[in-house]
Amino acid sequence: MTFPQRKLGSTGLSVSAIGMGCMPISVNGRPSEEEGIRTIHAALEQGITFFDTADAYCLNNDDFGHNERILAKALQQHPEAIVATKGGNQRPDGRWEANGHPEHLRKAIEDSLRALNLETIVLYQLHRPDPNVPFAESVGAIADLQKEGKLLHAGLSNVSVEQLDEASDILQVASVQNRMNLFDHSSNAVLKRCEQLGIAFLPYSPLNGMSKAGQIGANEVLSRIADKYQASPQQIALAWLLHLSPVMIPIPGASKSSSITNSAKGATVALTPEDIEELSTIGS
Ligand SMILES: NC(=O)c1ccc[n+]([C@@H]2O[C@H](COP(=O)([O-])OP(=O)(O)OC[C@H]3O[C@@H](n4cnc5c(N)ncnc54)[C@H](OP(=O)(O)O)[C@@H]3O)[C@@H](O)[C@H]2O)c1
Repeated sequence: MTFPQRKLGSTGLSVSAIGMGCMPISVNGRPSEEEGIRTIHAALEQGITFFDTADAYCLNNDDFGHNERILAKALQQHPEAIVATKGGNQRPDGRWEANGHPEHLRKAIEDSLRALNLETIVLYQLHRPDPNVPFAESVGAIADLQKEGKLLHAGLSNVSVEQLDEASDILQVASVQNRMNLFDHSSNAVLKRCEQLGIAFLPYSPLNGMSKAGQIGANEVLSRIADKYQASPQQIALAWLLHLSPVMIPIPGASKSSSITNSAKGATVALTPEDIEELSTIGS
């Protein structure tokens, strides 16, 4: 069976309805490079064609681009794979710090092109608004880089409805990546705006984040519904997101092959309207 596909916003591209978040391969607690590459290959074997990364998925500034370099190695023989990366963060001493200055974004995309071994990035996302830089300046820098052909499509991450609207006046927004999962519905209004505008919504931490993803089955409602479908709680959590909206493309993170192999199967779980409603009561 072919993996269910979804449109990637206005890009004209279709990707697997579940992508892979590659952050756990490069941050604290990361696996060996060989194991990371095996995990990416396990995703491909399942039919996953969409991979989310960022220049800042690394340990610190000396290690910048670690995740992009591993993806480039793993995907050498896989032209079907679409990589979405991000710029606009730095990792001094391992901390996460926004940097949305136009000159930083210009250098960041050049470095990402080198790390990914690409001439153009298919989807380049502003990692987060920088409180010290007017948002329109950061978005304007991305628009300039797009005009120069360094990126094909532009996306945003960690934005409000107001910021999404502001950016939409400057460039065509193809995707928004905000945190959303069974326990966190705080980006609901942004999701609705994405639906109105035909923008792909890529919920990050769809399993409630790296440190909690393994324990989500402790929730009684989720565990009961998972048992009913003979599915893992993680598969149900992803299926719930997919049922919420046709613009939704979850990107569960994984450092282990077994995690992404299990998560991929969430794309084929058909939940009843009653179960979707009950699952929706879990979060706020
Ligand atoms: N834009 C942003 O600001 C932002 C912020 C955070 C994340 N992200 C992106 O979103 C992606 C996903 O978010 P996330 O990694 O924070 O959290 P997540 O997807 O909620 O959880 C990731 C963890 O879930 C575990 N896991 C995955 N599938 C599983 C399964 N079927 N059963 C049991 N455990 C499973 C993995 O464990 P193992 O590691 O042991 O395989 C992984 O570490 C990231 O990788 C990154 O690409 C973006």
